Amino acid sequence: MKASIMRTIYWEDNAVKLIDQTLLPDRFEILTCRSVDELADAIKRLSVRGAPALEASGAYGIALACYEREFKDVDELKEHVKERAKLLSSTRPTAVNLFYGIERVLKVVLSSNDVEEAKKRALEEAEKIAEEDVRRNKLIGKYGAELLEDGDTVLTYCNTGRLATVDWGTALGVIRSAIEQGKRVRVIACETRPLNQGSRLTCWELMRDGIDVTLIADNMVGIVMQRRMVDKVIVGADRIVRDGVFNKIGTYTVAIVAKEHGVPFYVAAPLTTFDWERSVKDVVIEERNREELIYCHIKCKKSFIAPKDVKVFNPAFDATPLSYVTAFITERGVVYPPYEENVPKVLEGKS
Ligand code: MRU
Repeated sequence: MKASIMRTIYWEDNAVKLIDQTLLPDRFEILTCRSVDELADAIKRLSVRGAPALEASGAYGIALACYEREFKDVDELKEHVKERAKLLSSTRPTAVNLFYGIERVLKVVLSSNDVEEAKKRALEEAEKIAEEDVRRNKLIGKYGAELLEDGDTVLTYCNTGRLATVDWGTALGVIRSAIEQGKRVRVIACETRPLNQGSRLTCWELMRDGIDVTLIADNMVGIVMQRRMVDKVIVGADRIVRDGVFNKIGTYTVAIVAKEHGVPFYVAAPLTTFDWERSVKDVVIEERNREELIYCHIKCKKSFIAPKDVKVFNPAFDATPLSYVTAFITERGVVYPPYEENVPKVLEGKS
């Protein structure tokens, strides 16, 4: 397996740098954000995306707020950072990790006594969050790999790999870890309409690592299960509440088909994706631009694939009831039902 592409998001020269995922697989380019405005735009456009990568984005975003201008004193810095935190929080509503990253670094800034201390500690905390992400993904990979057998074919949805995290990945991290252990694992990747995170990003990064991947359109999930071409499904999550798993729109359909065919459905996610105090009704599902559905692809606003004035409903996520989830794969191990008992036990001590 090839070494890491490099980190999906990182800090360099007082700026946040990220792989611009809107350009893949055509071009690999690093986007430099020197202001929180630029970073917030990048998040909204999905240049950086995936719940754990959004956690790091929120964290680095708060650090960037401390560096993007000069301050006469620490109070002025704190006011500015609080304002910027609001902007970052307004970018995307569903993945809870974004808010976790923002709040954790904001807390450090607000408890600092002078400008230099705030800058230093904010950056240290953001770097710590990024490191933690890589470490916990390796653990998710280690625990998840035990569920995979030599020769398995895993169906996955959206992109949950290096590109959705700081590095390694959650669901794709499990596959990487199993392969690293010497197991032969094949992947079926759903294209994940309308923004094609599966075909553009998952296929790109798996092929780059030499992992066997086959692309299907989202409406082919039924036939591949019916033909017994899938041994396990592993997906990621944007927010896990006490009665559902929010993940990329279409995940719920995959879960239903998996259950119908007796295929295990696993959700791989770090503990920061759990928002156990909340339930499905408390969470806002992001609704995105109609253009994502009416054009052949959002990058090419030339060929229409629908009448341009058609009414459009474009939710970015759906919630899969927990009864469809065979187990959660976390950095503290695999969690099986009953979730109302077992999830709180695993969450105890979460920072
Ligand atoms: O809209 P996106 O691309 O940010 O959605 C991403 C997903 O739904 C992922 O499956 C989820 O964030 C888990 S990533 C490890």
